Order: sequence, then structure tokens, then C-alpha cells
Amino acid sequence: MQVSNRQKSNMIGVLGVKGGVGSSTFALNLASALALNEKVNLVDGNLQQPDLATLLNVSPRFNLQDLSPRLDGLTEEMLASMSLPEKDLGNLTLITPPLILDQALTIAPYALVNLLAGLRQLNHTTVIDLPKIMDQTLLDLLDSLSHLFLMIEATVPAIAAAARWLKVINDLGFAGEDLTIVLNRAGGKNKEIEGQILQMVKDFRLLKLANDFKEVENAAVVGLPLVLTAPRCAYSRSLKNIVTSISLEYSRS
Ligand SMILES: Nc1ncnc2c1ncn2[C@@H]1O[C@H](COP(=O)(O)OP(=O)(O)OP(=O)(O)O)[C@@H](O)[C@H]1O
Ligand SMILES: [Mg+2]
Repeated sequence: MQVSNRQKSNMIGVLGVKGGVGSSTFALNLASALALNEKVNLVDGNLQQPDLATLLNVSPRFNLQDLSPRLDGLTEEMLASMSLPEKDLGNLTLITPPLILDQALTIAPYALVNLLAGLRQLNHTTVIDLPKIMDQTLLDLLDSLSHLFLMIEATVPAIAAAARWLKVINDLGFAGEDLTIVLNRAGGKNKEIEGQILQMVKDFRLLKLANDFKEVENAAVVGLPLVLTAPRCAYSRSLKNIVTSISLEYSRS
């Protein structure tokens, strides 16, 4: 697998090395932190099991099914109809699959690739919570990113999964500055496994996120991102640091 050099649009992907490692929580909070300063599109790429609308406790009037026939002519107005002003997140547009499975099944997975192409034309920052199924859709989605956050946690299965994904990501031509490894629930009890992970990813940029169980759960109950409900907790502070470093990178490119 070989692809072109990363494109310098603000197209950010979040990929969990396996299920449950915290990728939706991270994608939501990353997009929300970025949206404090700019317009951001948050895309839920999990067509059959979307979680982002649930984490925000919204059932959007318009969704990916409405956009699907019009992906090659996306407009600011269409995106504005998916923004979340009622959540004090007016800069954030949530593009979610329909929350009803029957409807979601009518959307071809490849629509996600066309969606990112359409969003690129509008030049806003986009964050996509990526599906974890390795197929042509995911390869093309990865190929259209400017930056990938690969989420890991300190468990034995996650180490094995991370090794598999790192091989693919390397083959796809992600260079150092295009990739950040996110160690979620860092600093836990499993020091030996965490040490093995740190050794495995020592050549990459690393972000550690604390285990903030109470704050993360509370944010989901309230239906808001953690960066708004608990801006000073450890998770939110780490996120804001990464947002600052991403913004610095964009201003250089
Ligand atoms: N840093 C953290 N501290 C505490 N709890 C967390 C943290 N990150 C995620 N969680 C919790 O872990 C669970 C899984 O998180 P999330 O849904 O974001 O993972 P995911 O990788 O998107 O899962 P899936 O594979 O189901 O899509 C959720 O209950 C979430 O609240
Ligand atoms: Mg998820």
C-alpha cells in the first residue's frame, strides 16, 4: 500500500486500535476544543453504531443520509443546518449517520470518502471518528487525512492490535508529523504493559490522557464534551495542549 504525501488540509482522523479504547470520546473532545477557536466539522464514521450524537444527547434533524445525494456540492448552509448552537457549540457541525439502523444501512460506506472530499472544498477543519474495519473505504479515508491520532490503551490485546495498525499506517506513508499516538487511561496500574507500549511507540509523537472516569461519565450524562463540563480536569488540559500544538503546525504549513 502506497499513497500520496499527506495533504495539508485540516483533515484529522481518530482511529482506535480496537473497540472501546476511547476514540469517540477523544474525537468529540478534540473537535470541541478546536471549535472554541474555529469552525469544525465532526464526522461520525461508524455508520452502524454511531456514538457521537448520543454523547451529545442530540438527535439531529439532518444527518448523513440527507447529505448523501449532495456530497459533491456541499455548501456552508447545509453544514450550518447541522451545527449545535443549543449546546453552546455553534462552531461545531455534527455529521452523524442516521441513528436508526434501517436508515443507516441505506448509506454506502464509501459515502464517507466522498463526504471528506466535499468538506475539503469548504476548507474547515474536520475531525472524523474513523470506522475500524480495514477495507478500501478505510484506506481511502486514511489517505485523505492530514493528521491521524491512533488511540491505544495499556492492555495486552491493544498492544497486539497497535502493532498491526502501525504496520498499515507505516505502509500508508504517515510520517512523524502526520501521526500522534494517544495513550488513553495512561498512568494506570498496569505499569509493565504500559512500559511495553511506550517502548513500541517511542519513535512517534505521544499524547497521554489520564483516566478521568468520573468526569468522562458525567460529561456523557450531561450531553456535553468534557472540555466544556470540566475544562480544568487532567483529560481536558492534555487535550488543550495538543490543540495548541496542532494550531501551531497549521500556522507553519
Ligand atoms: N480517559 C478516559 N477516562 C475514563 N473513561 C474513559 C476515558 N476515555 C474513554 N472512557 C470511557 O470508555 C468507554 C469507551 O469510550 P469510547 O466510546 O470513546 O471508546 P471507542 O473506542 O469509541 O469505543 P467503540 O469501539 O465502541 O466505538 C466509555 O464509557 C468512555 O466514557
Ligand atoms: Mg466509538
